[in-house]
This record gives sequence, structure tokens and C-alpha cells, in this order.
Amino acid sequence: MYVCICNALNERKVQASLDNGATTPAAVFRQHGCQVQCGKCVPTLRAMTAEHRATCARRRAQPDRNAQPAYSVAAE
Ligand code: FES
Repeated sequence: MYVCICNALNERKVQASLDNGATTPAAVFRQHGCQVQCGKCVPTLRAMTAEHRATCARRRAQPDRNAQPAYSVAAE
């Protein structure tokens, strides 16, 4: 589905930008070498970037089950 009709940005292209570090609609446009035209897509892009940031934050907050503890417990 197209997110931005003016610039022919579909969900796959937007998701690729988010995965490449875009955190704002402007950054998404920059990564694709375009800029906002009519602006109708901006609320959707804002929602997508916010959701992506929230998802990344949740992943960072989850403990890595395979990680080794940074400390050691001395045997008594
Ligand atoms: S739909 Fe994105 S600028 Fe018009």
C-alpha cells in the first residue's frame, strides 16, 4: 500500500528507511531523495516512525537471554 502517493513511497520503502535509522518523516523523505508535497501522508509517517521507535525501545529494554552476566558470583 502506498503511504505517500506524491512520492510513490509504499510501506516497504518507508519500513526500509526506518530500519536504516530514519526517525522522522523528513528523514524518510531525505533517504528517498524527495520532499513533502501535499502533506497528506505526514500523519501516517509520524505514526509509523513513532511505532518504530517504540518497538526499538521495547527490544532494547528486553534482557538478552543469551547474554553473560557482567559480574561473577564468588563461590562460598
Ligand atoms: S502524499 Fe506524501 S506528500 Fe503528498
